[in-house]
Amino acid sequence: MSATIVVGTQWGDEGKAKVIDYLSENIDIIARYQGGANAGHTVKVGDETYIFHLIPSGILYPNTMCVIGNGVVLDPVAFEEEIEGLKKRGIDAIGRIRVSDACHIVLPVHRTIDSLREASAGGNKIGTTKRGIGICYADKTMRVGLRVGDLYGKLEERLKHILEMKNRELTEIYGEPAMEFQPLFDSLKAFAERIKPCVMNTSLYLNRELEAGKTVLLEGAQGTALDIDFGTYPYVTSSNTTTGGAISGSGISFQHINEVYGICKAYVTRVGEGPFPTELHGDEGEHLRKLGGEFGATTGRPRRCGWFDVELLRHAARVNGLTGLVLTKLDVLSDYETLPLGHAYRRDGKTLDAFPACGLDEIEVEYENMPGWNSDISGARSWNDLPENCKKYVEAIGKWTGVPVKFISVGPGRDQTIVL
Ligand code: IMP
Repeated sequence: MSATIVVGTQWGDEGKAKVIDYLSENIDIIARYQGGANAGHTVKVGDETYIFHLIPSGILYPNTMCVIGNGVVLDPVAFEEEIEGLKKRGIDAIGRIRVSDACHIVLPVHRTIDSLREASAGGNKIGTTKRGIGICYADKTMRVGLRVGDLYGKLEERLKHILEMKNRELTEIYGEPAMEFQPLFDSLKAFAERIKPCVMNTSLYLNRELEAGKTVLLEGAQGTALDIDFGTYPYVTSSNTTTGGAISGSGISFQHINEVYGICKAYVTRVGEGPFPTELHGDEGEHLRKLGGEFGATTGRPRRCGWFDVELLRHAARVNGLTGLVLTKLDVLSDYETLPLGHAYRRDGKTLDAFPACGLDEIEVEYENMPGWNSDISGARSWNDLPENCKKYVEAIGKWTGVPVKFISVGPGRDQTIVL
């Protein structure tokens, strides 16, 4: 039993990459299991900042192997740009990456249709990253998608079929020109040759390595509230971002899992549309956004900001089976006199017993006002370095959710981590 899952407990951007980077030092293999180039994982090592979209951030450790599991949707252009970017910074990634032959491929037409849909959706817009994620997953579920393994088999036949369908959508619904088959076919053929050494049955690889005693970390992208089943549907991404997705998106046996860490920011953010019960509006939201530097790593969009939401975290603890919490960006809250902690939801005068599947925009939140600590904690390296009020804030989160806080992050640096 030596696989650890790391999941986001909010709407993504919880600081998972820093935690994954921290944990990776003692891990043999890091695997992504869902999502695609919609993710933006930022890691700071010394003065260097790296932003990953598809490649697991574990690639920064020279002996770590990285896997792109079957549940990921792989955009060849984004993938190769990232490999190139790493190469320029002295990291030869390709030799340490394994790509599942069952991964679905994001085609340029998926991106185009994602953008066109969003532009024409009016009030029903999701606020996607326009990376073609939802359209590619829809094709997967419709059983017309193109998989990495197809690049070495019936590529011509499959690509013709998918383009025929997508081109009908492009021309007849959106009045856009059709996409040509030949240039796309040629570029996919060339891509197939370049990544051939990386492609394999990664489920087999991961299970064998685990059985041989290796350690695996399953790196989640986005967060629980963006999960296609457990998130704020329809304002979600198109994959299972939660523990269930880690199993089906990597193909490892659940019997190998021994830890599930839920990453939660000390406050909450979200990008894109959709309900957000503890959201701060106007100057208050702007203030927190500035303190936390809350701008999207993939799209640069300003993130919506709000107070900590315990009900959301309880939901995440339940659906993911969390064994520990990692609280990130606690240092960002150093400036406040009072910190309202949202701990219960009310609707029509009644307290809800759980995070609801629908009607989240009609929720009123009950807050407990926690006293702030009003001092810089970015230099804290142990629990005892934290001010009393800060400890109380952390303890309240643990108490309200019933899951122990195991790590606290007080800054972007690897060393700015407190182990409890
Ligand atoms: P999509 O995944 O691009 O289809 O976008 C669907 C929703 O998920 C939108 O609200 C996006 O802003 C959000 N989303 C997708 N990826 C991320 C992420 O990595 N962090 C935060 N939000 C994300």
